[in-house]
Amino acid sequence: MTTTDNTTATSASNATQVEQRLAEATNEASLKRSIARSAQLEEEIDKDPSRFRILTGDRPTGNLHLGHYFGTLHNRVILQNRGIDTWIVIADYQVITDREGVGPIRDRVFSLLADYMACGIDPKRSTIFTHSAIPALNQLMLPFLSLVTEAELHRNPTVKAELDASERPMSGLLLTYPVHQAADILFCQANLVPVGKDQLPHLEQARVIADRFEKRYRRKSDLKHPVFRRPEALLSQANYVLGLDGQKMSKSKGNTVELGMSADQVAKAVKRAKTDADRHITYDPDNRPEVANLLQLTCYAGGASSPQTLAEEIGDGGAGVLKARLTEALNEMLEPIRTRRQELLESKDYLQQVLREGNQAANEVGNATLEDVRHAMNMIYEAHEA
Ligand code: TRP
Repeated sequence: MTTTDNTTATSASNATQVEQRLAEATNEASLKRSIARSAQLEEEIDKDPSRFRILTGDRPTGNLHLGHYFGTLHNRVILQNRGIDTWIVIADYQVITDREGVGPIRDRVFSLLADYMACGIDPKRSTIFTHSAIPALNQLMLPFLSLVTEAELHRNPTVKAELDASERPMSGLLLTYPVHQAADILFCQANLVPVGKDQLPHLEQARVIADRFEKRYRRKSDLKHPVFRRPEALLSQANYVLGLDGQKMSKSKGNTVELGMSADQVAKAVKRAKTDADRHITYDPDNRPEVANLLQLTCYAGGASSPQTLAEEIGDGGAGVLKARLTEALNEMLEPIRTRRQELLESKDYLQQVLREGNQAANEVGNATLEDVRHAMNMIYEAHEA
């Protein structure tokens, strides 16, 4: 074999290794590693939160519900309040990855923004921006696409899951979505991404892209510093809740409690919640998942200290008492959120100002990153000599 052959063989086998790593990003062994690393990161945050910049986001596809609140939003507010520089992308371009149109996108963007702020995301401490307003972020997609292989994209388990859920043919954007998400993370120099398990493959892909960019361009250029920081996953101890019917909580299943619902709507939604034939309330997640979920939800909402003690307290009171306790706890928790949310939605000027400032900050950091990217790629032609 010639030297050239050897190099080709090595890089081919490296590529397959990366493919493998991406495909296995959610398996038990890598999950274990991610959990262990997240525990270390928690300690590092306690010592010095200023070392970190967080990037997370959501797609504006509808109003946020309790699944979002307990799963991610609440945790984000805590991280922000621990003093970490927090960036949040309203992922409007992601909306078109697996559906035909954008829907009532404008209203949904403002609704999401109001949800964030009503729950405690503070625009003075957090930067909130939209994909579509940040040209530099989107431009990164182009060099990034050259750094990934089709096989890697096809093996990404989260892309596969989204394809299956969408019942549509694979679009070019869905297939390459992990690359766009890498741009979200890398453009703003985030080094910490609080995620659920399903986002781990995307994060791995982002790290691979940053490494490859470094090797292919930066190290061969005269740029002295790395262009991108290496992002790490922070697996939050998410409080996973099911919908009121015991299935995954999702708008399309009509089993959610939205943060903006009125007290009456919450009561009605809870009244319709599924329970089972056994009148006596016990906490038995394996055999009585629906009842267990309602008990758990009541606790998360602050209405009891543990699902076991709550079940014992209710006992023969049955599903009626359980639902009354849940409604009361939820409404108490949601009352200030709901009021604040309404106030915000009535102050469109203020919401627009928050987005304007967030987008401006994102554009500043994005332009600086893109400048480094062009420098590393030797694609700055108009610069004047020093
Ligand atoms: N893809 C994420 C979701 O579907 C949302 C998102 C967009 C995101 N960009 C991100 C999450 C960057 C973490 C980091 O929920």
